[in-house]
Amino acid sequence: MSELQVDSESASLETVMYSSRAMRRLEPTAVSESLLLKLIDAANQAPSGSNAQQTRWIVVRDPDQKKKLADLNRLHGAPYIQAEVDQPRDAKHKRLVDAVVWQMDHLHEAPALIVACYDYDEPVSGSAVYRKAGSVWPGIQNLLLMARSLGLGAAPTTLALRDQAMVRAALDLPETFAALCMIPVGYPSGRFGPVTRKPVKTIMRFDRWSE
Ligand SMILES: Cc1cc2nc3c(=O)[nH]c(=O)nc-3n(C[C@H](O)[C@H](O)[C@H](O)COP(=O)(O)O)c2cc1C
Repeated sequence: MSELQVDSESASLETVMYSSRAMRRLEPTAVSESLLLKLIDAANQAPSGSNAQQTRWIVVRDPDQKKKLADLNRLHGAPYIQAEVDQPRDAKHKRLVDAVVWQMDHLHEAPALIVACYDYDEPVSGSAVYRKAGSVWPGIQNLLLMARSLGLGAAPTTLALRDQAMVRAALDLPETFAALCMIPVGYPSGRFGPVTRKPVKTIMRFDRWSE
């Protein structure tokens, strides 16, 4: 087993971080409840603004509930991805688009769809839905890293959540909740590997921005 194929928490944080790819192709094999709880526990260690701890997690395993989310993902995702299906930019982009389409076709079969929400304690709509998103994403990243370290595939997604009223209806969410991310989780069909990112010299400068 290469270093990148680790499936235990003994993997170094660096290995986990540098190989936490979006894994969209998942096996339908069930993921144990104890592992799912471990993911949420890791997510729950993340910081939040004013330590408000208002992130809420719905772990969707029920087939009918998963189908509702899969239908929402297709409703919003299919029109979004169609232009890219018709004209992928290059071979790498085509692989990404193929994986997104595969995920769309198989989402209801994923063992768990984890929805990360923020509870505003008051009804929210429009752009207010994203006001406290910064307090939810550190937990999402913790969850993704823990999934990777446990050998589970996961990917952050947002397309299914474009209409908050529809997500609230599907999951019986109070109107004070905003659903910000859906993370399908399961054992990966493919292999883990390094992520590809722009070089640091492209994306940072010391002291001020200069070419
Ligand atoms: C805010 C956000 C929204 C995303 N929404 C989606 C989505 O709706 N569907 C999807 O398949 N992937 C989604 N992704 C995953 C990205 O496409 C993925 O992280 C990116 O292509 C890098 O992939 P890699 O880590 O495998 O290199 C989202 C990621 C982020 C951070």
